[in-house]
Amino acid sequence: MKITIIGAGSSYTPEVLERLNGMREELPVTDITLMDINEERLNIVSGFCGRYAKHMGLNVNFACTTKLSEALPGTDFVIVQIRVGGNAARINDEKIPLSFGLVGQETTGAGGFMKALRTIPAMLEIAHAVEEYCPDAWIINYTNPTGIVAEAVNKYSNAKIAGLCAGGFNGRNWTAMGLNVDADSVRYDLAGLNHLNFAYNITVKGKPLTEEQFRTIAAYRGEQDAEMCIKLGALPSPYLQYYYHKSKRVKELQEKEMCRAEEVLSVEKEVYRDYADPACETKPASIEKRGGGGYSEIALGVISAIYNDKDTWITVNVPNRGTFSWLPDDAVIETACMVNASGIRPINAGPVPKAVRGLICAVKNYEQLAVEAAVTGSVETAELALLAHPLVGEWELVKGMLPKLLEANRQWLKNF
Ligand code: G6P
Ligand code: MN
Repeated sequence: MKITIIGAGSSYTPEVLERLNGMREELPVTDITLMDINEERLNIVSGFCGRYAKHMGLNVNFACTTKLSEALPGTDFVIVQIRVGGNAARINDEKIPLSFGLVGQETTGAGGFMKALRTIPAMLEIAHAVEEYCPDAWIINYTNPTGIVAEAVNKYSNAKIAGLCAGGFNGRNWTAMGLNVDADSVRYDLAGLNHLNFAYNITVKGKPLTEEQFRTIAAYRGEQDAEMCIKLGALPSPYLQYYYHKSKRVKELQEKEMCRAEEVLSVEKEVYRDYADPACETKPASIEKRGGGGYSEIALGVISAIYNDKDTWITVNVPNRGTFSWLPDDAVIETACMVNASGIRPINAGPVPKAVRGLICAVKNYEQLAVEAAVTGSVETAELALLAHPLVGEWELVKGMLPKLLEANRQWLKNF
């Protein structure tokens, strides 16, 4: 069994190895090809991966390349974790919207839009290479914005893609930890989009939660939102803070000395210095500071479910295809799915809580325009996308900000 990791120079790559090591019996991986266009980071991470695998006693053949044509042939699963423009480009995604008084975040609002415009062409190039070199392989993607990326790949290629985010399991983890129950016994309906989802109808071992249990989880998720969760009847993704506490969050972000991208760049310096040390053969302490990991549980969970044809309940970004009657069939949604060798199918969900449908529809409207803008390079469509976005939505802001966003990203926007 061969896995290819694209964007393998990412600091997250060793997490995949760690989890693979724990799943040796169910995932007999013989070959891992690490591919990245940044040769320097690829060399550092692959050097560390070799030492780390040896240290764990994980017996796999590693290969390294900077070319898709060399990486993909013979691959069963293609893990994609690219970041076009790196965290340096992310600084603009966060700072430009903030300078207009808008949320500045890498996946949400205008910042997420720019990340989508940079990322979609690169993802489609990868998807077309998968069609050419390993058409039966699944793309296991957690490149952000993962829902928008999945929508573009589903619309514009025949490659099979699982759009993943560690956050899909938030509802499970909050319930398990808040009530001290086994995570595997938790199920729920999940409605919405990536970083815009709502978990509801939660059950433990098939039993619906009591009101008191729901209150306990809501408080566990976060004191400041507990009352709101109870009124909503759902547990929103933490990214909903940018909608439900917008003014407060914008102010806080504007007051911060360093934006998140700058913080990540500074932590990564340490992580890569540690990975590059020939004496370093286990995960260094610095990686704990990076945060945001945990995706390998979902990524390798999907791979194992497909490879072993083992029915598994996992949250994935997939085309709606009738799951929610009020969204288009081709709209990618983040929802609870049954995964096995026949693919990834959304599970029928109950009616969504009263107050969430409008927001989901509005953001999906924006996302579909964002995909169209990225593929066509149309400035008019880009304007419409931002106008449709509930976090932008004002013509003066669109006209003032879009030229600045496009200018800052010129080198990655070949379609424009
Ligand atoms: C969460 C999100 C991911 C995000 C990660 C890291 O896990 O679901 O989409 O990439 O956090 O965020 P950060 O701001 O640390 O780069
Ligand atoms: Mn995510």
